[in-house]
Amino acid sequence: MERLDKTLANAGVGTRSAVKALLKAGRVQVNGLVEKDGSRHIDPAKDTLALDGEPIGKPARQVWMLNKPAGCVTATEDPGPTVMGYLPPALRTSLRPVGRLDKDTEGLLLFTDDGDLLHRLISPKKQVPKVYFARHEGDATEDDVAAFAAGLVLKDGTVCLSAKLEPLGHGESLVTVCEGKYHQVRRMLASRGHFVTYLERRSEGPLSLGDLPRGQARALTESEIQALDGQNPV
Ligand code: URA
Repeated sequence: MERLDKTLANAGVGTRSAVKALLKAGRVQVNGLVEKDGSRHIDPAKDTLALDGEPIGKPARQVWMLNKPAGCVTATEDPGPTVMGYLPPALRTSLRPVGRLDKDTEGLLLFTDDGDLLHRLISPKKQVPKVYFARHEGDATEDDVAAFAAGLVLKDGTVCLSAKLEPLGHGESLVTVCEGKYHQVRRMLASRGHFVTYLERRSEGPLSLGDLPRGQARALTESEIQALDGQNPV
């Protein structure tokens, strides 16, 4: 709990005297109700503050998307190149990758500074579908499609959730999985005799790469963040 006037000043609303004037003028709301008493104690984690009806005090969450190139690891620190090097320098210490892509896998990788969102997105319980494009040895067959749908058991006994395999012909397939086990898509296809030579994540939940160039990152729009929230209710 902390004083309302102090919270407002810390949130950058203005100096202590400016905050005092705003309070006196009845321009500050706490949980939707006008509050003129700056000495009131509020809980910054629970109480919502507004100035002239506009929410204040809670920095916007950061959610970014990278079109990951091959050759960098999904880690915050590593002796070699990491995915963090593709983010704006100012965000490299606050953002965390959501799940991971292998060094040689390309495509959509999300980052956020919101720990709750991160955990909801990587939880197998939430079943967020991820779509991969794979190039592999041999052509996938209808038997492979059925085996993916039934839930594959990998060579080491790992049991996979039901997944969707869509053969595209010419040694290419789309694979949709709702979990993120180690080297999962590569191992699933290998277990059916299709060694993967190229892998790209094209979408995650409601988000897809669109025309984001390889090696580029961008902030998600507010409506994209809401779409992520919507598909992963707390
Ligand atoms: N499955 C894999 O095998 N590798 C990835 O990077 C992602 C999913």
